[in-house]
Amino acid sequence: MEKEKSISRAWCDGCFDMVHFGHANFLRQASKMCDELYVGVHNDEEIAKNKGPPVMTMEERITMVEGIKWVKKAVPDSPYITTLHTLEDHKCDFCIHGDDVTLDASGQDTYRYVREAGRFKECPRTKGVSTTNLVGRMLLLTKEHHRPATPTLQSQSQEKSPYTGTCSDSIDLTDEVQRDFLQGREPKEGDRVIYVAGAFDLFHAGHVEFLQKARAMGDFLVVGLHSDTDVNRYLGKNYPIVTLVERALSVGACRYVDKLIFPAPFVVDQEFLDQVKPTKIVHGQHYRASSDLSMYELPKRLGIYEELNSGSPLTTEIIMSRIIKNRGEFEERNRKKQLKELNYLASS
Ligand code: CTP
Ligand code: C5P
Repeated sequence: MEKEKSISRAWCDGCFDMVHFGHANFLRQASKMCDELYVGVHNDEEIAKNKGPPVMTMEERITMVEGIKWVKKAVPDSPYITTLHTLEDHKCDFCIHGDDVTLDASGQDTYRYVREAGRFKECPRTKGVSTTNLVGRMLLLTKEHHRPATPTLQSQSQEKSPYTGTCSDSIDLTDEVQRDFLQGREPKEGDRVIYVAGAFDLFHAGHVEFLQKARAMGDFLVVGLHSDTDVNRYLGKNYPIVTLVERALSVGACRYVDKLIFPAPFVVDQEFLDQVKPTKIVHGQHYRASSDLSMYELPKRLGIYEELNSGSPLTTEIIMSRIIKNRGEFEERNRKKQLKELNYLASS
């Protein structure tokens, strides 16, 4: 894509595996450092070689990155080591990364070339969330994450890297973070308002495809997030894996969402319809085994309920089963990643 001379275009790249609000917050901060942001996404083979097997496919990871409202363009198959060619190929002025180290298979900084050329900038890594941490919540099968301090796989490890090994308090909900992620806007007079609700746990590519199609059914999309108590009642086990405010941040970063309601009442009753004034209430066709659609009795009776086929078979349970199936590999991937980070820090 051509670029006007006066515009600054920045390049970010990464795995973006199981995109979470830490990734979204990184892209939010990076977008404030330039006029437009291009995001390179590594392919499955590159990640497997340098880090370990990814949970999500490149196609799913691209859908997630494209769905984030601060991204101008997502670029597939980006190389693991960022060179000046990468920046030139996409007419990017500089590269931005979180202030953690990213190492290639041989333990070297993947940004060494752009750093040396003075075309590298950093922004603070978001504390309290990482893929490792989310995988830990899934595998430990506890409900600890429903409380502020969250266990990780690394909690059993003696040697902790300050990047992969840490699990601190959750994201700092500054006024700016709340405004950028959560504030939303109000519909204009005459807008066709679409309302959707659900758990949106482990916000994934199936959700993004659903939200994109739901948004296209009207002019304004309101998303309701069920409370942790409601989600735990209908999904059981230690669901939701991601708590209400964390789910709100993930969904709030999505470009197709105009307004969020969290927690949203489980049952869509007359009082709620009077408040939100939706033209249509939409739900995906992709029901989980335990789906309970009794909440839509009134909209169905009023003839304003519609079902939508997102075209994606992905569910939170499928993600869980991918992780459980590859448990050993993920534990090994995280152990190796931490060891590489510790070795690098000791020698630098
Ligand atoms: N990032 C961040 N805050 C986080 C997680 C990631 O700022 N909590 C940033 C990284 O610093 C990087 C970008 O998001 O600039 C893409 O990260 P990615 O390549 O996906 O790798 P990880 O840092 O390993 O993410 P995770 O630990 O969650 O797997
Ligand atoms: O399951 P959950 O409550 O998180 O789903 C939120 C919404 O996304 C629901 O309407 C669901 O049917 C929809 N969805 C979809 N396609 C998927 C996954 C979810 O349409 N692959």
